[in-house]
Amino acid sequence: MGSRWQWMMILINFLLIGATILMVEPMVAMDGVPLGTNSRWIVNQNGQRVKLACVNWVSHLDAVVAEGLSKKPVNEISKEIKSMGFNCVRLTWPTLLTTDDNISNLKVRQSLENHGLRNFIDGFQSNNPTILDLSLIQAFQAVVKSLENNDVMVILDNHITKPGWCCSNTDGDGFFGDQYFDPNLWVTGLTKMATLFKGVPNVVGMSLRNELRGPKQNENDWYRYMVQGAEAVHAANPDVLVIFSGLNFAINLSFIFKRPLNLSFKEKLVFEAHRYSFTDGQAWANENPNKVCRQVTQNLKDTSGYLVDQGYPLIMSEFGGDLRGTNVNDNRYLNCFIAYAAELDLDWALWTLQGSYYIRQGDVEHEEVYGLLNLNWTQVRNIGFLHRITSLQLPFQGPGIIQGEPYKLIFHPLTGLCVIGEFSEKQPLKLGQCFSSDGWHYTPQNILLRKGTNECIKVVSEGKPATLSTSCSGDDSKWDMISDSKLHLSSKTYMGSNVCLDVDGNNNIVTNACKCLSQDKSCDPANQWFKIIDSGKRSIQSSSTLSRTYMKPLIST
Ligand SMILES: *[C@@H]1O[C@H](CO)[C@@H](O)[C@H](O)[C@H]1NC(C)=O
Ligand SMILES: *[C@@H]1O[C@H](CO)[C@@H](O)[C@H](O)[C@H]1NC(C)=O
Ligand SMILES: *[C@@H]1O[C@H](CO)[C@@H](O)[C@H](O)[C@H]1NC(C)=O
Ligand SMILES: *[C@@H]1O[C@H](CO)[C@@H](O)[C@H](O)[C@H]1NC(C)=O
Repeated sequence: MGSRWQWMMILINFLLIGATILMVEPMVAMDGVPLGTNSRWIVNQNGQRVKLACVNWVSHLDAVVAEGLSKKPVNEISKEIKSMGFNCVRLTWPTLLTTDDNISNLKVRQSLENHGLRNFIDGFQSNNPTILDLSLIQAFQAVVKSLENNDVMVILDNHITKPGWCCSNTDGDGFFGDQYFDPNLWVTGLTKMATLFKGVPNVVGMSLRNELRGPKQNENDWYRYMVQGAEAVHAANPDVLVIFSGLNFAINLSFIFKRPLNLSFKEKLVFEAHRYSFTDGQAWANENPNKVCRQVTQNLKDTSGYLVDQGYPLIMSEFGGDLRGTNVNDNRYLNCFIAYAAELDLDWALWTLQGSYYIRQGDVEHEEVYGLLNLNWTQVRNIGFLHRITSLQLPFQGPGIIQGEPYKLIFHPLTGLCVIGEFSEKQPLKLGQCFSSDGWHYTPQNILLRKGTNECIKVVSEGKPATLSTSCSGDDSKWDMISDSKLHLSSKTYMGSNVCLDVDGNNNIVTNACKCLSQDKSCDPANQWFKIIDSGKRSIQSSSTLSRTYMKPLIST
């Protein structure tokens, strides 16, 4: 008996140690699937918020195979997605992949050959030999499986009917009833895809259709067909979130407000919207960024952002820009968009992963300058941009996420960092990782108080570091949100001149003359842009390997 008891104790100890080890492991993205919704939040089975931080990965172009498989083993690509901090991929597919046997049953090798892409076959053979002789539909499944093996969730996005680059107003594939957009075929395609991935745990959502558009688009047909598509998906696979995009290239969902959807299912309905700089032409480059940011933010709220206040989750399922960093229009738009995405704490999918395409619009090995990876898929194109979106990959708010009192973060969209208090006596305020901020309170008197202290942010003088002080009654410790964008935090020196919070070259928080508040079109105020956002002590600080990514930038060769 005695020795059996001893063994039992050893076993119990072993189990306890095991449990402790498990508790300190980073959260597994796929824990608690299938996902559902609770008001505006996407949640897991434990009711805890799951913030979808996705990257788009294209599989809908001419050859209908996920891009990059001639460059790298699929498992390495999946691992990199995970190590870059994404917990999810928006994987695109054309309807004909499931409705046309000549496409679904075609071998990858043959599909490449048919499109004159023989040059990619050697690379494919050495990197993904087991996929090359699969059919296109099996290859698609193999990519999803590889993502599952690496704990990456998937949204299946019905992108277009016929394989090929998307989207224009005149491509005949933009709205129900267009030449290539038969609603019945679409419902059949969605049903087949939903059925194929029934029970596959990492497939957490299906996006009904990408960027509806064109002369035929109208609200009535949108309701009629989108409800049909949604009900078909739900009937075939009740475990997936059903994701609706609006009119005008997935910009316009403004009509949901007056006419809610009537669906047979609950807690699975999610909306998605897209936004790029070019949605507003060259406005960002040609006009004052504070003014354009105000207009675009208002437009985003009116056309889709308002939905979160109505109790619906919203995924910004395409946004991005030229990651070479040379496009002024894109750069200015991203500064504003990142502030908006942080403020609303939206789920999102960056456009895009692929650094190149096998073929796009007739151009073989077309480079994708919006791609996180470079032309050869060997390196991250812009590691600074990746660091910048790191803070958006984690939830700032949501059920099961915040422990204790909520507080504010002072977020700097240009860097993706937050204002952190008390680094040293001399330089008490710096930019740092948002998750290491103790948090702030923004009082009704516009004082920025460091949480748990009576210290506030105070002006010393123009051109000098701002400081933390316990004497917080003067105008030099009141911070107003000014300019059209309301993204400048402005205060006064003791002499009464206006200054704005700013950042110097060493990430110290300083105060400088306020920049390009209005009129000026040539200057870029983004270094002075801060957004005070809602957050709190977060229980999730490592839903991925991203902190490791941050310390050791991923450059794979
Ligand atoms: C598939 O290919 C066969 C033989 O070329 C052709 O007869 C048939 O119409 C094709 N099916 C579709 C759906 O295009
Ligand atoms: C959005 O679409 C509705 C319905 O078609 C239309 O009435 C409205 O003007 C559009 N709004 C915007 C901002 O495009
Ligand atoms: C919603 O749809 C159901 C089933 O089609 C119908 O019975 C019901 O009247 C509809 N409700 C509204 C508010 O339209
Ligand atoms: C990409 O790969 C091609 C062919 O393998 C090579 O010639 C080229 O130098 C590579 N480019 C870069 C930027 O690595």
